[in-house]
Amino acid sequence: MAELGVNIDHVATVRQARRTYEPDPVWAAALAELGGADGITLHLREDRRHILDRDLELLRQTVTVKLNLEMACDEEVVRIACNAKPDQATLVPERREEVTTEGGLDVAGNRQRVGEVIGRLQEAGIVVSLFLDPVDEQIDTAAQLGADAVELHTGAYALAARGNPQQEQLVALTAAGQRVRAAGMVLHAGHGLTYRNVKPVAQIEGITELNIGHSIIARAIMVGLQQAVREMKQLIA
Ligand code: PXP
Repeated sequence: MAELGVNIDHVATVRQARRTYEPDPVWAAALAELGGADGITLHLREDRRHILDRDLELLRQTVTVKLNLEMACDEEVVRIACNAKPDQATLVPERREEVTTEGGLDVAGNRQRVGEVIGRLQEAGIVVSLFLDPVDEQIDTAAQLGADAVELHTGAYALAARGNPQQEQLVALTAAGQRVRAAGMVLHAGHGLTYRNVKPVAQIEGITELNIGHSIIARAIMVGLQQAVREMKQLIA
């Protein structure tokens, strides 16, 4: 069974909308652990739009399951990662104007920089995963550069229309997954996975980790809102 990494960035996004102290992603991580999360995933972006340096520091001290830091090959963030020593780093592309990570990392087009960052992170004792589109050239380059794992980008699958288009994306993910494993790397997947579309991806052979954020946090709001309103009504009364 694949392990579940819960991405808590969206909790920090709500906090940063008011630049206040709540909701705290550190609390959210503890609750996710209580719920059975096998890992906590966070993305320290160059622009600090949601997760802050303080969150990473506190999460490193408090998370007892796998701590997975999503990060770009940005020099400052690489230095922070080497100091913080998450259990795993997942290298992602990053553009300031994007709403979320939009495509996989172009490792084939940035061999030198990505190779250097992989080496520095591994030297610091951090397992390195690369977030890649299911494209042979990208997977082969990841293996050549010594990546430990590949997280296949499931965004195209998640966005595809139900039926044949989605099935085609699943076939591509399955073939890419075989290629990742044949090259000796560990297989992860994530992005855009929901309660409706996760099952076929979880069933891909050899998949060991799924990273899911938005859908879980969206559901948490919906299943928790009634109680939150009730509690406020009681206080007002
Ligand atoms: N994996 C990676 C590499 C990501 O960048 C993200 C988004 O931060 C996720 C997984 C989780 O995506 P979602 O929030 O759509 O579940």
